[in-house]
Amino acid sequence: VLVCPHCHVPLERAAVNLTCAACGRQYPIDDGIADFAEGSYYDSFNADTDRLSDHHLEGLALEVEGSIRRIRDFYAPLIRRSVPTAHRVLDCGCGNGLSVDELIKEGFDAFGNDVSQLRKWQWRERHHRNKLVVASGMRLPFPDHFFDVVVSSGVLEHIGVEEWSLPTYTVRAQADRDEQRGAFLRELARVTAPSGSIFLDFPNGAFPVDFWHGDGTPRRNRRSEGFLPTFREVRDLSRAAMPDRRIHAHAPYRRLQFRQAARHWYGQAFRMPMNAFFRAMTTPPLQWLASTALNPFLVIEIAPPPPLKSPFRT
Ligand SMILES: C[S@@+](CC[C@H](N)C(=O)[O-])C[C@H]1O[C@@H](n2cnc3c(N)ncnc32)[C@H](O)[C@@H]1O
Ligand SMILES: [Zn+2]
Repeated sequence: VLVCPHCHVPLERAAVNLTCAACGRQYPIDDGIADFAEGSYYDSFNADTDRLSDHHLEGLALEVEGSIRRIRDFYAPLIRRSVPTAHRVLDCGCGNGLSVDELIKEGFDAFGNDVSQLRKWQWRERHHRNKLVVASGMRLPFPDHFFDVVVSSGVLEHIGVEEWSLPTYTVRAQADRDEQRGAFLRELARVTAPSGSIFLDFPNGAFPVDFWHGDGTPRRNRRSEGFLPTFREVRDLSRAAMPDRRIHAHAPYRRLQFRQAARHWYGQAFRMPMNAFFRAMTTPPLQWLASTALNPFLVIEIAPPPPLKSPFRT
C-alpha cells in the first residue's frame, strides 16, 4: 500500500528497502519499519550512544496510559459517531505508536506515522510494526484518499516553529510557519477520503495557560510566541487548504483525563470542576464554548461538506 512520498507511485519492495521506479529514491526498512525521513528527523536519537535522562524516561512511561486512553475513551467512540462507516484510520504524529495497536484492537485498519528517531526506537516494542512508518506529515507515503479518518494529536503546534528545552522551554515561530501548517493540512486532506474527517487536537492558543509544554508546570501562553494555534487560525488555514470542508470543535471531555496533572495540587483541585465543565460542553446549548478561549484544549474536526439538498426530493 505504500507509495513514494514524492511521486505517489507504488513502491517496489526488496528485503531491506523500498524503491520508487519513478524517481529512483530508496527508503530503508529497519526492524520491519519503513523510513521515509531521508535523514531529516524531528529529533536526533541514537540508541547505541545516547542515554535518556531519568526525567525523560519517566515522561515516556507516563505517556503510555494516556496513549491508550486517547483512543479507547475518546477517539474510537468519536470516530464511530462522526464517521460511522470509517474503517481505515491514520494517526499522524502517533508518538510511541501505541495508538495504532489500540485502534486495531478497536476493529479499525490503523496506520501511524511519526518523523522522530526516538519514536522509531520505541516502536521496536509495538505489535503492528508494519503499520508504522517514519515519515513527516508534510509528505506521507500513502495514496490519495486512502484513509476514512486522520487523527493528529498534539502535532500541528509543532509545525513551523523552533523549540529549545534548555535552559527553559522556549519556542519561536519560523517566518513561514503558516505556509508549513497549510502544507501539513493539505497533505492530510490529500490522504483523506472525500467522505472522511480529519481530527486535530492541541492546547488552545487562545487560552492563557499551557499545561502541556515545558518542564511539567503550567506555562503562560503568550500569543507573541506564535506557537499554539487558535480555533480561528486553524479555521482560516483549513478554509485555504480545503475550501469545501467545514470545521467545528468538539468538547475535550474524556480526551483530557488529568492523570499527569493529578500529581500536582492544581491538577487535583481543578480535576472535578474541569471534568464537569467539559462534560457540560458536550451538550447542545454549551457546545459553542468548545471553540472559544474558555476551553484550554481544542479538538477540531474538519468534516466533509454537508450533502446538497436536492430540489427534486419529495
Ligand atoms: C506531543 S507529541 C504527541 C504524540 C502523540 N500524537 C500523542 O498524542 O501521544 C508530538 C509528536 O509529533 C511528532 N511530530 C512533530 N512534527 C512532525 C511531523 N512533521 N510529522 C509527523 N510527526 C511529527 C513528534 O515526533 C512527536 O512524536
Ligand atoms: Zn519517487
